[in-house]
Amino acid sequence: MCGIIGVVSGIDFKVSFLLERLKRLEYRGYDSYGYSDSRKTVKSLGAIKAEGLSLTRIGIAHTRWSTHGGVTRANAHPHESCNGEVIIAHNGIIENYWELKTILERQGHKFRSETDSEVVAHYFEEKIKQGKGVKKAISDFLKEVSGTFAILMMIKGEDKIYAIKRDSPLVLGICEGKKAGAKQIQKHILASDIYAFSDITDKAVFFENDEFAVVEAGAYEFYDAKGSLIKKKVQSFEWNQEEGKKKDYKHFMIKEIEEEPLVVSRMLLSLDHEQKDQFKKLVSLVKKSRKIIFAACGTSYHASLLGAFYLHTTGIEAQTLIASEFKHYANVDKDTLVIAISQSGETMDVIDALKYAQEKKATIVSLVNVPYSTIQRMSALSLNILAGQEVAVASTKAFVNQSVLLLRLAQEFGYKVNLSNLGEKIKGIFSQKDDIKRIAKQVSSSRDAYVLGRGQTYPVAREIALKVKEITYMHAEGMMGGELKHGTIALIDKGTPVISLIGCNDEDMVSNTKEVEARGAEIITITNNASQCRGSAKNTVFIDTDNDGKFGILACVAGQLLAYYVAEALGREIDKPRNLAKSVTVK
Ligand code: F6R
Repeated sequence: MCGIIGVVSGIDFKVSFLLERLKRLEYRGYDSYGYSDSRKTVKSLGAIKAEGLSLTRIGIAHTRWSTHGGVTRANAHPHESCNGEVIIAHNGIIENYWELKTILERQGHKFRSETDSEVVAHYFEEKIKQGKGVKKAISDFLKEVSGTFAILMMIKGEDKIYAIKRDSPLVLGICEGKKAGAKQIQKHILASDIYAFSDITDKAVFFENDEFAVVEAGAYEFYDAKGSLIKKKVQSFEWNQEEGKKKDYKHFMIKEIEEEPLVVSRMLLSLDHEQKDQFKKLVSLVKKSRKIIFAACGTSYHASLLGAFYLHTTGIEAQTLIASEFKHYANVDKDTLVIAISQSGETMDVIDALKYAQEKKATIVSLVNVPYSTIQRMSALSLNILAGQEVAVASTKAFVNQSVLLLRLAQEFGYKVNLSNLGEKIKGIFSQKDDIKRIAKQVSSSRDAYVLGRGQTYPVAREIALKVKEITYMHAEGMMGGELKHGTIALIDKGTPVISLIGCNDEDMVSNTKEVEARGAEIITITNNASQCRGSAKNTVFIDTDNDGKFGILACVAGQLLAYYVAEALGREIDKPRNLAKSVTVK
């Protein structure tokens, strides 16, 4: 996590420009932030204020999601070396920082923070003191330092930024300006991802592991770990800027939920057109492979559980594993197809699982939302879920598109589902917003909530519970309906809200619901069975669809809205819940 940004320009720019860019990365972490224009370093706690009229031609900035050391001004980046000559911003974790810190302290360095990152500044000050050139010192750093890092470094008096990458994302944006009719490079922007500059340029150079660059206003050079110059390709990318704006919505989360009908249609259409070849290749890889193993985390893991369910139904050997446990539970070989599911394309646990799969010679495919991301670049084949930018930390429209793409894949193997009316069906749920709000108000007075599902609604039960936890801070558990009686039913008390996802003819779910109702639970039903909506069923969201794979996805949309309105009723910080970050780039 953490977002880093660096700007070098041939002409003056306001510090506010640097902070505006940083603000676009705030979703990567938002405990504290700071910047340096190489003359002065400023740090603050809380949300980024994109202000600052002073002019500069160089600067680095950082928005933090704390790992080593609490949320304090001292721990905020950038960090300076003892003599203030070396200024760094770092995303990642320096694993052997303690060892390095001990050596540096013996050499007389005084540390001001509790972070692992600060060693980087002292390390380079020491190397420079020993007479090493900065490039040589970076090669030493790549040999001597273990861990993950994207580092931006300024040395006082030099109009350059040194940028170093291993396992944490880093990209160089090239902004061209015009002067006297001739094209010239106006600004270079180094950032954790392209979103930092996608509104002002569509040209970027992506760093690979153990590469570093020296970036100035009019020039940049890339080097390998040994310090030999390397050639890099400038890539053009497309990114819709409109989607990143909140417009008149109260929160990004509700805006993103409301975009679901549109993004679903866009993605499905692309599988028949722009992504047709990739989709065909995916189908053929699934056919050829002995088994499919998904690797994903959080919400993306829940989408992969749905994927495993759909494929399994068609007779394909499919399983999914939470990426951080992948190597402990996956049996992977050259005949295995590993499908990574990731909105950001940067989740470290997924990257690690893929590295493991690569070692075992498995074929890697990914479904990602952020193009040009690390996971996409690690894959033999990658499909874009085209959900558009997700700003709210809680993932919603990405989940829908991940799940629908997997359902479309299962359709190729005989899964019966009509996807043509999916957008309309989602809108049908939006038309029940008032009821959902009323139910949410009731739920918001409880401390706990349980969500029950079976088959295709089991992953959805978990996903709804995750949404509730993330943005309402209530305790919520998503469970298999059948598992409840093996322990958790002890927690059901008078008035405990239980959200029951009941598909047509799912008599077992009806029984599980009755079991908790008999113990005083307040039942909320999300169902496509009209008979469940009769009589005393006052807290019911009706999903007008068959029991095909759409039911689970649509039930999830209802759950997303429910979680949103509970959080709203509780006055929570919905788009940026405490302790979370959108992109989890640490293990
Ligand atoms: C939940 C959420 C997280 C992510 C998880 C994986 O709303 O957003 O649980 O789903 O961190 O992230 P990606 O999909 O970017 O790999």
